[in-house]
Amino acid sequence: MASFLVLNGPNLNLLGQRQPDIYGSTTLDQIEAQCLDHGARLGHDVVCVQSNHEGALIDAIHQARGVHAGCVLNAGAYTHTSIGLMDAIAATELPVVELHLSNIHAREPFRHKSYIASVAIGQICGFGPRGYLLALDALVGNLRDRGG
Ligand code: DQA
Repeated sequence: MASFLVLNGPNLNLLGQRQPDIYGSTTLDQIEAQCLDHGARLGHDVVCVQSNHEGALIDAIHQARGVHAGCVLNAGAYTHTSIGLMDAIAATELPVVELHLSNIHAREPFRHKSYIASVAIGQICGFGPRGYLLALDALVGNLRDRGG
């Protein structure tokens, strides 16, 4: 049995109330519960963390090393700005699936740039909360590919 980290960044604690036309009505608590259920179905542990602070997200990635087999990361707006988060992923070599509820490529041009994409094993966006489950499936496949 492996463990996976589901890491959510700034403003995602407001899901359900925040711009529901873009992000839907599902709360972060509900998404996290779905991730735990899905992990259990796959036979793995899932640990969920959310922070609005860039340094805390970087700390969570450092601490995931040797503990979690991979990470689903919705870095929110830090996706488009954070060289620090990109460097943390590169430094730890943690397998990361970049996740967005919305299709960032169909939105404002500043959301098309992702610092996470170049260090992630892949990106899932536009599928709403279901994307988190797809990302967990991808991480389990990645673990198998690595012989785990
Ligand atoms: C987001 C997309 C980002 O551009 C935005 O800043 C968010 C949420 C998404 O899940 O669609 O906070 O990551």
